[in-house]
Amino acid sequence: MLKQDIEQAVEILRNGGLVAVPTETVYGIAADATNGEAVAHIFEVKGRPHFNPLICHISSIAMAEKLVNISPQAAALMQKFWPGPLTFVLPKKNNSPVSGLVSAGLDTLAIRMPDHKATQTIIEELDRPIAAPSANLSGKISPTTAAHVTSGLGNTIDMVINGGDCKEGIESTIITFNNDQVIILRPGTITKAMLIEAYGPNVSEFKASSDGKITAPGQLASHYAPEASLRLNVTEPRDGEYLIGFGDIKGDISLSETGNLRQAASNLFKHLITADTLTSGSIAVAPIPADGIGLAINDRLKRAAAPRDK
Ligand code: TXA
Ligand code: MG
Repeated sequence: MLKQDIEQAVEILRNGGLVAVPTETVYGIAADATNGEAVAHIFEVKGRPHFNPLICHISSIAMAEKLVNISPQAAALMQKFWPGPLTFVLPKKNNSPVSGLVSAGLDTLAIRMPDHKATQTIIEELDRPIAAPSANLSGKISPTTAAHVTSGLGNTIDMVINGGDCKEGIESTIITFNNDQVIILRPGTITKAMLIEAYGPNVSEFKASSDGKITAPGQLASHYAPEASLRLNVTEPRDGEYLIGFGDIKGDISLSETGNLRQAASNLFKHLITADTLTSGSIAVAPIPADGIGLAINDRLKRAAAPRDK
């Protein structure tokens, strides 16, 4: 890999651009994880109609320690398997610099240290974590060569780093902890048997019950929901409602005064959490156009507004 390619990639990321990067599993579309608008752009490029939380890629344990709380058990597994295809979902630190959009408003963050020299060097030189989902369009398979990335995403991203074929070829194993139990959230090439060998017998696969509800205790919820009730498509707030505005509808706080959807996406979870903290009543949200990344914003708002068991 040419030194000047790495430098160019770092420069692009520093300026909020997107770079496809090789890892040992699959190629990822990377953005500076601390730049919310750059992260919002990832969802736009993937054509995802909804926001999934993304994996934060780091180049050292010291960098990870600034983002999440690492228990001694997690640290032991990191020592054993990093760099490598094992992702940890861990409690986010309060002062983490990572954009709320990366973890889609959840209070956990997924992190891993990829085993690929070029990408490690990019993260090191950027000196910030990168958020990177697999570099495929929504609904297509994950690319394992630079040519696949280019044919899928074309010129919608700023640069593709050609790091050769991915040696693993499938996405990383994702784990979390429930007390001392390791829970496998997504299977991958680090197998249950390998985890048991390293950790002991207290390892199990995550299972949702037959009705699709999450039964494991702990914070495995797949999406953020505020405490307050949420009313959508509001142009006139009711008394006592905290209004999150957009465009011409100003509100108490605005997702984007200029009606910029990428900016709105980057502010979405941050503003919902702020509104939830500031209001004891309900939260109202101005209409958001349902096109492009607006589809993902509306999807998350609908989920956040859905009646739920508490
Ligand atoms: O091998 C990989 O992991 C690749 C390379 C590029 O590193 N990345 C990847 O990212 O597969 P993506 O975005 O396609 O998949 C990330 C998965 C999603 O299924 C998401 O739901 C889960 O990680 N995830 C991320 N953050 C989470 C969190 N806080 N809690 C639970 N699941 C999380
Ligand atoms: Mg994927």
